[in-house]
Amino acid sequence: MGKKFYITTAIDYTNGPPHIGHAYEKVLADAVARWFRLSGREVFFLTGVDQHGQKVQQSAERAGVTPEQFVKDVTAKFLELWERIDVRPDGWAETVDPRHKFVVRALLQQMYDAGQIYKKKTTGWYSVRQEQYVNDKDRNEQGEFGPEWGQVEEREEENYYFRLSDHAEWLQQFLASRPDAVFPANRHSQLVNSLADSGGMDLCISRPKSRLRWGIELPFDEDYVTFVWFDALTNYISFAGYRDPAPGTSGLPDFNDLWPCDVHIIGKDILIPAHGIYWYIMLHAAGLKDEEMPKLLVHGFWNLEGRKYSKSEAVEAKPLKVLKDLTPHGIADSVGKDGLRYFLLAEMTTGQDADLSEERILTRYNKDLADILGNLLNRTLNMARKYLNGVLVNTTHGSEMHQALRAAVTALPGRAAEHMSAWQIHKVLADVIDTARLANAFIDKTAPFKLAKDPANADAVASIMGHVIETLAHLSIILSPAIPSTATRIQEQLGWSPPAGFTLADLKWGLLPADHTIGQPQPLFPKVLPPAEAPGS
Ligand code: MSP
Repeated sequence: MGKKFYITTAIDYTNGPPHIGHAYEKVLADAVARWFRLSGREVFFLTGVDQHGQKVQQSAERAGVTPEQFVKDVTAKFLELWERIDVRPDGWAETVDPRHKFVVRALLQQMYDAGQIYKKKTTGWYSVRQEQYVNDKDRNEQGEFGPEWGQVEEREEENYYFRLSDHAEWLQQFLASRPDAVFPANRHSQLVNSLADSGGMDLCISRPKSRLRWGIELPFDEDYVTFVWFDALTNYISFAGYRDPAPGTSGLPDFNDLWPCDVHIIGKDILIPAHGIYWYIMLHAAGLKDEEMPKLLVHGFWNLEGRKYSKSEAVEAKPLKVLKDLTPHGIADSVGKDGLRYFLLAEMTTGQDADLSEERILTRYNKDLADILGNLLNRTLNMARKYLNGVLVNTTHGSEMHQALRAAVTALPGRAAEHMSAWQIHKVLADVIDTARLANAFIDKTAPFKLAKDPANADAVASIMGHVIETLAHLSIILSPAIPSTATRIQEQLGWSPPAGFTLADLKWGLLPADHTIGQPQPLFPKVLPPAEAPGS
């Protein structure tokens, strides 16, 4: 068995329910995973939740529950959303898992034994009310710590530090030799440039338990827990079978089948320094070779009507005409799980920011999905039932228009593969919608509804229907990574589904047999309109 395609994402903080940024990243990863499966690769897709830390500890205290209970409840909300919108990972990372703690502690001990971790005393300003250290960027315009911080006092604290600076030169050389390590290229350059001013800094990796209890205890000092990154980043290997003490019986994948990871999908906020600096250096210090370093795919942020996305605004900011709110559930309630998935993947250019608005969501749904794709399927199947009794017939009829449609359809898999090699899934979707638009125009121009009036045109009508139905079968396959349940619904209506083991290489003209019988037409995407524009109002 060859190496699997290993794809993973940032793990989401469990200090609140999932929001649109979480949903985008997981849907993108899910679609990429499905795409590689369709291409014939074996795939392992890992995602999960990041459950430790100060914010969780504080939120749990406010909610009057233990941190264990708090993360359990929030984790259930993530799992419920992924289930609802067809995000189907092969592995699920929860940082409270004993398996994960084992790897984190083993890694820390290894670094400690190798002299990579040392203890140091520092002084800083500490806010008693917020239970955290503050620094100059927390000062207000008057240069003071505002009342929100309460009493701020100077404190001395001892912590453990990881010798990041020992590896700064290695990282520089590594990035210079691997321009493909970080996608898009502008993020790669940004990372390289950031190294110039981050030199000489080591990474604080601990918090005394007196301040933070909710974390993984350091293996070499029980008075401390690990702070954030040694815990969170390690998930990418701990749930991939790294240092599995019971390979083959633990239920974990075999690390050798997965590593090196083909792509970590992360947002732009956690490239520098977390993944681009800390993670590469941690792996290097753990003994991994340059060719074993993961590739990073860095996506942009969803803004909310031009402003930074804020969870509370997404829930409360109104007035909205149709949607309940702009949370993943609020959107899926109106336009369905595939309306949400399609919007997220079609609207964002991978790597850039995009804007979340009700208007854009409804336009994507009503125009692309309902008017173009849904309408194509529905009108075609209705005509095929009316004119051909639902049974395709082999015809010899053809024209330049037939050829043009056929050429567009058969070019799709190659074009899609090229787009996906640069993670441009929105272009794949744009191609599908363009092809559906072309098929609609083909129907309008060839006018089977007119031709059918004369029995002498039976051959011509059958060939038009046959071409469009074959086109729809192809579109269903190309769409299946992005909107899998719609792809299945299209196939059910066509009365065709790909045989087991079907891959992109099998996507050739002539999927449907000459005497194929189609299924029942059913509207795919009922229009979702503001009350004033809805028919009959
Ligand atoms: N737990 C850390 C990551 C640890 S990975 C070892 C974290 N969690 S997070 O919940 O804050 O963010 C999870 C992912 O969602 C990140 O990749 C982040 O960039 C992404 N997004 C958070 N808000 C976002 C938007 N508004 N838009 C798009 N993605 C966003 O960071």
